[in-house]
Amino acid sequence: MAVREILIIGDPGLTRTSDPVDGITEEILRLARDMVETVHAAPGVGLAAPQVGVNKRVIVVDLSVGEDRDALYVLINPEIVSKEGESIAEEGCLSVPDIKEKVARPYRVIARGLDLEGRQVEIEGEDLLARALCHEIDHLDGILFVEKLSALKRTLIKKKFKKKAAAALKA
Ligand code: NI
Repeated sequence: MAVREILIIGDPGLTRTSDPVDGITEEILRLARDMVETVHAAPGVGLAAPQVGVNKRVIVVDLSVGEDRDALYVLINPEIVSKEGESIAEEGCLSVPDIKEKVARPYRVIARGLDLEGRQVEIEGEDLLARALCHEIDHLDGILFVEKLSALKRTLIKKKFKKKAAAALKA
């Protein structure tokens, strides 16, 4: 297993639509294991494959950040099949470090996908779990949470990271 590098906002890999996984290969299993290790090391509560530079439809969600095995979800080709209600709360993203903003999400969702054995699974999530599932699945369609903010906030955040990237190049 290995901790992979997490791409930061501005990287074109984050805005691409990811391809469906067409078989649970060794490569996909290795990717999933690395993603679990990467999200725990960050630490964070969720990660999508495009964030580690792989445009495949794989997500990891673990609200316990490694404390509870039952809280760890790895989903292949996930989709939201039902949503209900609304919750507005602060949200962040490992690809947009140190930024937290309020985002509206459904209060309850059902997500469907495959587990690592290729079995179809459904996860019913409320509140934070629903938020995390929506956030990670958005990544697979190239959508970062900043796209849900006002145009002004979004522009300010993008500018901030452009400046940081330019400074890093000069250093
Ligand atoms: Ni994210």
